Order: sequence, then structure tokens, then C-alpha cells
Amino acid sequence: MATNFPPPTLPAGFSRDRQQGDFLKESFPDDFAWGSATSSYQIEGAHDADGKGPSVWDTFSHEPGRVECNHNGDVACDHYNHLEEDVQLIKNLGLKHYRFSISWCRILPTGDPSNVNQKGIDFYNRLLDCLAEAGISAMVTIYHWDMPQALGDKGGWMNAEIVDLFKEFARICFEQFGGKVKQWLTLNEPMVFALLGYGFGMHHPGQRDFFGKGCRVIHHLILAHAKVYHLYEASFKEKQNGRVGIALCSTWNEPRNPNSEEDRQAAERAMRVAMGWFAWPIFKTGDYPEEVKTGVAAVCEKNGIKSTLPEFTKEEMRLNKGTADFLGWNYYTTSLVWSPSEAEKVGPTPFSQVAQITGSVDPEWKRGKCMFFHVVPWGIRNMANWLTKTFPSVDIYITENGYSDEGQLDDSDRVDFFRNHLNELLKAIRLDGARVKGYYAWSLMDNFEWSNGYNVRFGMHHVDFTDPKRRRTKKASADFYKHLVQSNGFKENE
Ligand code: NOJ
Repeated sequence: MATNFPPPTLPAGFSRDRQQGDFLKESFPDDFAWGSATSSYQIEGAHDADGKGPSVWDTFSHEPGRVECNHNGDVACDHYNHLEEDVQLIKNLGLKHYRFSISWCRILPTGDPSNVNQKGIDFYNRLLDCLAEAGISAMVTIYHWDMPQALGDKGGWMNAEIVDLFKEFARICFEQFGGKVKQWLTLNEPMVFALLGYGFGMHHPGQRDFFGKGCRVIHHLILAHAKVYHLYEASFKEKQNGRVGIALCSTWNEPRNPNSEEDRQAAERAMRVAMGWFAWPIFKTGDYPEEVKTGVAAVCEKNGIKSTLPEFTKEEMRLNKGTADFLGWNYYTTSLVWSPSEAEKVGPTPFSQVAQITGSVDPEWKRGKCMFFHVVPWGIRNMANWLTKTFPSVDIYITENGYSDEGQLDDSDRVDFFRNHLNELLKAIRLDGARVKGYYAWSLMDNFEWSNGYNVRFGMHHVDFTDPKRRRTKKASADFYKHLVQSNGFKENE
């Protein structure tokens, strides 16, 4: 089996091997949690069944030109009608953990908390019961991007009223499902959602005003997260005994030239912006990190305007601080970062909105054989260590990590991806002492990959989207993952 990766365009003198070292033949800790992950809009389908209201993604994907080939999630994997079969797939993999999300508009068709759709509640109860019967515990994401359209019409995350409406939705989730759920995630990748939806225009609502709107959206997302955390603490924790976290995403940011102090600083700044924009208020100070404050102010100043970064009041800072029992982290790739003075010479990059704040992110580095992201296994080790050092004593769960291709059954590149990332992760845990407690592979099956529709596949199971029955077929990676989970690591003789 090939274990090498296609070489990215690297600066002279940069060796990608320097952190990899030997393959480690060892096992993960006995209580390490093995799982896989999905999200509601990406798999459920049944977009108008049993009283579900339309979500912003139903509407967005129906607008011609928003999604590749005008694909949409109307049927997706039809998980809504294949629930038992899908739980069996998880069980066949030997997993004891599964991460899924709840569709807000299946529970509250118009977002109005007084108008609950009982059939939506029944669906998730059936799923949770089925998982429990199979001995699988649920990690549940409350928001994975599919807001009721009726709330989208009122401005969605731009409207401050959303904060309390989200809290009421979460309250219903805790009341209805909390007896069966021990791990909650309030939000999935809120930074990505704000950037793609309000910066790059690729996701709903398709806008391109990150500094004007994205910053405000992020502000509301943080407050909404914090309120939901306190709600659980005050009204549910004692009885339900669960934990509440958040799933954040950041690339590992590697200095382009590790010997340059300027590049090293730019890379650290990039971490504090990409991860810290949410993680600082939640895990550290209650407020944005200085790098975000000065970064946004500098970009705004260049454009002749006052900083668009909203300020938290003292009380809000108190509300934000310490509002997660664990950190969910989605890792896909690594970025090369270099100092602003070098960046000037290169000119704008496709990531220039963030790059303006952090230094610059190498556009070349992003391209690669993997359709989406460049494959950089050692990035997972570096970042696991950075997180452990930056947020000491916080339990970390990798809530997503995966590889995209065109959906072939013999997915040996995905096998390599899992094998090498998990080995680097093992090194982080065993050799470096990183506090990573579990791993959820993205994804259980091929699904609707947002603006890429069904053209980009992340599944360990192939789904035939031309078949009305949406037949699932396991790929080579499913067998590999099952074996690794069974061994709980890498054996000496393999
Ligand atoms: C992160 C998102 O949470 C998920 O919805 C998406 O499919 C994967 N990344 C892959 O892009």
C-alpha cells in the first residue's frame, strides 16, 4: 500500500518529512472513542416530509447556479427512510460512537418555538433508540447549517433575535432527547459557515461581505453558543449528566520558512485568528483574541472605515468565558503561512480575506490530488499539540477528518489518508501527550457536499444517487477503518 503523498509546491529548503518520523506501531488508549459523522441536510433528504419546514439550504440549493450541476438535498441519501439500515452500517464498522445533527426545521418548521413538529421529534427519537440498541452513543450537533427558511427570511444569524431563538430550539432538543445524549455540540464549524456564507458567497446566504456582515454573524454565533451552554448547565446537566461542546475547524498553519521569525509569528497569528476567533472567547478570556481585534481594525483602516468587529460587553464576556466541556475539532488540511511583507510580493490569494489578517496563506498549497484539500497528515499532529498547549486540560475530540474523491469503491487514497492521519494522531497522543480523546471519520457515507453537490464524495460507503433506493455499498476504506478500530491502533506485524 502506498504511503507517500503527492508533493505540494513547497518553498525551497522545506522538507515535509521533518515531522513525520517512523510509522508508530502502537495502540490508542483503551477508552479512545471511535466514531463516524454525518449531518442532517447532507444525508436526510425527505425535505418536505412529515411536516418539515423548508431550510435555507432547501431554498439556496434550488436557486439555479448555486450548487454544482444544480444538485440539491431533496432526497440526498434518503437517510430519513433508511435509518435502521444506516445504524447497521455504523454497527458493522464496529463503532461505538456516531455524530449526527438535528434539522432545526424538522423540529420547528418555521423556527417558532411554540410550533413543534411531533413527527420530527419522533424521527430523532427513533434514531437515538436504534443507536442505543446497537450499543452506539450519540454525539449530537444542534446546528449544522440548515436553519429554517422562515428565520433566514428575518436575517438569519445577522438578526440579534436569532440568539434567543436558537436557545429555545436547543431547549427543545435537551427536553426531548437529552435523556439519550451525553455529548452535545452547539454549532458546527461556525467560522467556515460565516466565511463561506458571508465572505466567499459559496454557501447560504451567498454574500460577499465578510468584514461587514461575517463579523456580526460570528458575534451572534458566539453569544448563542454561550447561552445554550448556560441553559444546559442550569436546567439539564444535573439530571441528564451530559457535556456540551462546539465543533470548530481550522487548518494547521505552518510557517512557510520555519527559520524565519516573521513567518513563525504569522503562522501563530493565523492559528489565533482561525481557531481563536471562537476558541478565545469560549475557552480563554470571554473576548476576541488581540490578533483578531488588531487584524480586523487594520483591514478596515485600509478601507477607510472603523473596525467592524463588534465588542462584547463586560457581562457578555463573563457569559462567554468557560462555555465548553470539550472541544470538537474538524481537521482536513494544512496551510503554509508567510509574513505580511512577503505576502505583499505575492499579491492577493484566494483566501485573502483571512490572509489580510493573518499574513498570507499559500494558494498552491491548497491544490492537490485530493479534490478538496491538500493531504498533510503531520498537520494533525502539530495541531493536536498546539491545541493541547493552548487550551490545557481541555478534552479534544476530532469531530471530522476525511478525504474526498469521486466515489470509487476501491478508495485506496482514502485508506492511505486514514492510515497516515491516524498514525500521526497516535504519535501526538502517545509521544507528545496530546489530549485527544476520540475520532469521528467524515463520513459514514457519500453525501451532499454543499456547493459541490454530489460531485465530491467523502464516504466510507458509496451511495448510488441515481438509484431510487439509494443503495449503499461499502468501500475499501470501510474495511480498513473497521480493522483499525478493532485493533485499536497499529499492530507490530502490519
Ligand atoms: C466540514 C463540514 O462540517 C461538513 O459538512 C463537510 O461535508 C466537510 N467539512 C467536508 O467538506
